Amino acid sequence: MIRMETASTVIPAGLRELIDEVGGGENGFGGTTVHTGECTLEQYVQQCCDVTDPAKLRPGLVPQTTFWALDDDGVVVGMVRLRHYLNNRLRVHGGHIGYFVRREKRGKGYGKEMLRLALMELLWPPADNWMRTTGEKVDGPQSARPSSFIQVSVRSFMR
Ligand SMILES: CC(C)(COP(=O)(O)OP(=O)(O)OC[C@H]1O[C@@H](n2cnc3c(N)ncnc32)[C@H](O)[C@@H]1OP(=O)(O)O)[C@@H](O)C(=O)NCCC(=O)NCCS
Repeated sequence: MIRMETASTVIPAGLRELIDEVGGGENGFGGTTVHTGECTLEQYVQQCCDVTDPAKLRPGLVPQTTFWALDDDGVVVGMVRLRHYLNNRLRVHGGHIGYFVRREKRGKGYGKEMLRLALMELLWPPADNWMRTTGEKVDGPQSARPSSFIQVSVRSFMR
């Protein structure tokens, strides 16, 4: 079983090891500012919190929520980045969801479950999430909604 926890300034067990492993990124999943030496882990989790808030972002950047994926023992096995909407750049490269599973934990179904939970978040985001995203003017109000592509994808995924 996997549960997703929204990133906060609390550092769960296994997070340091996960972020070490993410390093500079893999297969399109971007690296972190810990890897580049710009941030400590503590500063990085604060950054993850800050980028959920459009008011704290540079113009043109899309708000994003980061989730840690925890196993039954409460240890982090992976992470998910969920963009609240897409701009033109993300529509071509990046998309709504990025996810990463620790290498020794791969092939056990964690990735699939994390993707399922992330898609649920996109389809049924919490009310305050909607307010935050629809308030953005970067790419128009339509783009604040999950794209029809995601809705079509999730239907086939959930079959
Ligand atoms: C992609 C990733 C998250 C999958 O995690 P995982 O826990 O191993 O995934 P699962 O065990 O749930 O496997 C899901 C399915 O994807 C397949 N799969 C996993 N990695 C794959 C890969 N690199 N290429 C092709 N298929 C892959 C599995 O075989 C499985 O297929 P099945 O259901 O038909 O058996 C993991 O390999 C990873 O972190 N990769 C690096 C980052 C990345 O590529 N992220 C995705 C882009 S942002």
